[in-house]
Amino acid sequence: MEKFFLQYLTVLSFSLLLASACTQTAEEEQQAAVQAPEALPDSVYLSKGGEVVQKTFATLSSHLKANLQKKGVEGAVAYCHLNAYPLVDSLSRAYGAQIRRTSLKVRNPQDAPDAYEQKALAKAAAAHEKGERISPWIERLPAENSAQGEVAYYAPIYTLPLCLKCHGTPGETLAESDYAIIKKYYPDDQAIGYQAGDWRGLWSIRFKE
Ligand code: HEC
Repeated sequence: MEKFFLQYLTVLSFSLLLASACTQTAEEEQQAAVQAPEALPDSVYLSKGGEVVQKTFATLSSHLKANLQKKGVEGAVAYCHLNAYPLVDSLSRAYGAQIRRTSLKVRNPQDAPDAYEQKALAKAAAAHEKGERISPWIERLPAENSAQGEVAYYAPIYTLPLCLKCHGTPGETLAESDYAIIKKYYPDDQAIGYQAGDWRGLWSIRFKE
């Protein structure tokens, strides 16, 4: 995770550098003003998205670690099953953003990707297959039912050794008995077979523009 933050900071400082280094021509400025007078630059959303992810990750992982220690995998799964969504929802309200995690292989069907997230996952998967490290990025989504569009922030989720207890290979890194418990809660679970360092999915954060 430390690596991830370092990488995130690098991307952030690089994009801030870019933002300050680029001076728009008068024509471009005029065009931008016509399109979206109040649109904030990408760098602002990259930075806000990074902050939301950092806070959400810290919250989820501290609860996860505490529950694993106290109650083992069974207790931690039961805890996550009940509490992961309410925890993330209250952070969503606090930040005025929609916070989600999604993946090509989901455990919780509620985390299945929507059409935009599917494209984002395909893009990240392509980068990952080429052996590239996935960097956070933003996309401006068109307004659908209102005049207001949304800004999507995506950042990669990589698998850490700790995650294998619940997302590893059954009979190897994931105990068969623990896997049976997971299947009780999530009969359609696909989120197994990962190794440490594998790309697991994406953070998907949406801000109102
Ligand atoms: C104690 C077992 C356990 C551990 C350890 C664990 N997870 Fe999960 N994970 C779950 C459960 C249960 C869900 C489904 C509940 C939910 O939506 O949060 C889940 C859901 C997810 C999701 C949302 C997408 C989906 O498949 O539904 C991601 C991403 C994820 N885990 C990544 C990780 C990462 C990365 C780690 C290590 C830092 C980790 N998990 C550690 C049990 C675990």
